[in-house]
Amino acid sequence: MAARKPATSRRKPKPKAKQKPLTARTADRHVLYQRAVQAPETDARFYDRWFRKYAGRPLRVLREDFCGTAVLACHHVKRHPDNRAIGVDLHWPTLAWGRIHNVRPLLSAEQQTRLSLLQKNVLDVRRPLADAILALNFSYSVFMTRSDLLAYIKNCHRSLQPGGVLFLDAWGGPDVLVAKTDKTRHKGFVYEWEQRAYDPINHRIQCAIHFAFPDGSRLRSAFFYDWRLWTLAELRELFVEAGFTTVDVLWEGTDQKTGGGNGVFRKTVRGGMDEAWIAIVVGQKAK
Ligand SMILES: C[S@@+](CC[C@H](N)C(=O)[O-])C[C@H]1O[C@@H](n2cnc3c(N)ncnc32)[C@H](O)[C@@H]1O
Repeated sequence: MAARKPATSRRKPKPKAKQKPLTARTADRHVLYQRAVQAPETDARFYDRWFRKYAGRPLRVLREDFCGTAVLACHHVKRHPDNRAIGVDLHWPTLAWGRIHNVRPLLSAEQQTRLSLLQKNVLDVRRPLADAILALNFSYSVFMTRSDLLAYIKNCHRSLQPGGVLFLDAWGGPDVLVAKTDKTRHKGFVYEWEQRAYDPINHRIQCAIHFAFPDGSRLRSAFFYDWRLWTLAELRELFVEAGFTTVDVLWEGTDQKTGGGNGVFRKTVRGGMDEAWIAIVVGQKAK
């Protein structure tokens, strides 16, 4: 039997390196965005579950449109050895950041072979045919006209397998139309969502994300969005026009304590007069 080492010779656990407080100079806007806005593991599970409900089979080939840093696509690939993902984004520097900070640390060499990142316009990608397409955080709102958004939704329809599903999230309610900045505290920084301008004539809306740090420094307009605010009625009509045979709205429930969303979505035909709401439009292609 090996002699037990005297307690004194045990190595002391290394004290955790004290992290320096974040400042505007040291922070990385993509890291902060991912921490404040995204929940990629939860989302990968969530969309897999809803896809199974619609298609009756597991979600294997996922296309993440407007993927940015592709962190959700990475988590989809990690979920199952047969899962594949295609991430599409126009912006090369953001995709490159995603490769370095998400793809390499999160995925093994084998898993990386099941992920393709395409620097392309979402309007120009059709193959490989996907089981599901996600366009999240309202990214499709870059399309300012009905005909442009219809072209996008039609392209998604063509890019799906029979029985495939397109998921778009949407937001609205009177609170969205008010010029204001909502602040949420996170570890080491404050996330600020600014609703800067809204034009009721053309439904254009300008929003920005800022980050504030304990030393008083700020990353102003770390992200800026010039969007059209689409209504659920318009989105539903466009899905039908694009050829989707089933079109549903998943409506988020309310947390009774906070009055905010509770993360639980149900298929709903009537929404409520909520101050602010988040919903998901689901379109399924004929099987
Ligand atoms: C709001 S970010 C979305 C990031 C991530 N998908 C999320 O859910 O948070 C929008 C992304 O869409 C990209 N983008 C905008 N227009 C595009 C287009 N026509 N085709 C592909 N990507 C586009 C931008 O480069 C940007 O990275």
